[in-house]
Amino acid sequence: MEPKQLREAERAFKYFDLYGSMRGHKIIVEDMARMEAYHSAIFKNKSEMIADKVILDVGTGTGVLAVWAAKAGAKRVYAVDASNAAQLARRLVQSSNLSDVVTIIHSKIEEVEIPEPVDVIVSEWMGCFLLKESMFDSVAYARDKWLKPGGLMLPSRATILLGLYAPGNDSDRTNVVKLKLEKEIAEWKETVSNLQSLDVDYSGFTDELVQDLSDYFLKNNIRVNYLSPNNLASTPQKVLEFDCATVDPTTLVQFSQDFNYSISKHAEITGFLGWFTTDFPNGVVLDTGPGPTYNHWGQYLYPLQESFKVAPGDQVLGTITVGRYPDEPRFNIIEFKYQVGKVPEHTALFNMGNVQHLDEGSKTLLH
Ligand SMILES: C[S@@+](CC[C@H](N)C(=O)[O-])C[C@H]1O[C@@H](n2cnc3c(N)ncnc32)[C@H](O)[C@@H]1O
Repeated sequence: MEPKQLREAERAFKYFDLYGSMRGHKIIVEDMARMEAYHSAIFKNKSEMIADKVILDVGTGTGVLAVWAAKAGAKRVYAVDASNAAQLARRLVQSSNLSDVVTIIHSKIEEVEIPEPVDVIVSEWMGCFLLKESMFDSVAYARDKWLKPGGLMLPSRATILLGLYAPGNDSDRTNVVKLKLEKEIAEWKETVSNLQSLDVDYSGFTDELVQDLSDYFLKNNIRVNYLSPNNLASTPQKVLEFDCATVDPTTLVQFSQDFNYSISKHAEITGFLGWFTTDFPNGVVLDTGPGPTYNHWGQYLYPLQESFKVAPGDQVLGTITVGRYPDEPRFNIIEFKYQVGKVPEHTALFNMGNVQHLDEGSKTLLH
């Protein structure tokens, strides 16, 4: 195999491997905000949206959305998953006595043959900051191939929001990053001095290590929950909004959006805070934004190297660019360019280079 093909094969294996067992699904099934939103989305107005309809569940995982669709009266449900979770879905469908309505297909959606066009596509494809994992590509592929003209997408709209994080009474997560960095550097200085007693001098590497660690700690976003919306220095702004039925997925690969925040209070801004909402056609909204309710995506905090103070009437102007890693297109790179008053423009670049919520498992780790 060519090295590029090998890399792609490994990538596909790892992604679907993460979702291939109950361990990978635990955190999403435990997320009650997510589960309740999809439950309402399927059952509210079910007689118009779901009853007697043919449904395609893209990425069925443990099969929950397919089971709900069948219980809401769907005529037939095709539930497709490329990972071994298809076996879990088969069990949930069997134990729910719905095998005559739901057909489980263990395949990538891009490779599957479905016997008929469908009236509705349901999918839970959203990643952190909406687009991480790049699963919407597969949903759009299924939409263009299998959805009847005028068919329904669940969810129907998706929106990314961005705010300025000014930690009033929240424990300041950006500060945690800086403290971690200071601790590592203090430890290193002690190591350099210990090693001098063994007649080897590492002091020449300190600057490099400081740069390396600060790149690592301050260029990775932090996933947070339970932040108070009061700790935003102004109203959040939309970075992206699209109609799931019509959006061209290639426009999501890389895009930029300007922002212009009018500050309403005295605050010290230590980072940008991002999250998403999805809307369903019957008025149900899944909102992953800051507040007292946990969700497994959380909000993404992008800590700034230098915090800055703002006052009422100030404006924070800039541009966010969201792109994909060239070597791992399921992950994002985020760049902020921003400016306050006449101060020269700053740039902050972040990696979103792991599938944190899957690796970390339990929601208790997110406090
Ligand atoms: C976030 S999980 C959602 C699982 C389930 N629908 C739920 O709501 O609990 C996404 C699922 O989509 C599957 N998936 C992602 N891309 C896929 C593709 N191209 N073809 C088939 N399954 C895919 C993954 O294996 C994973 O099980």
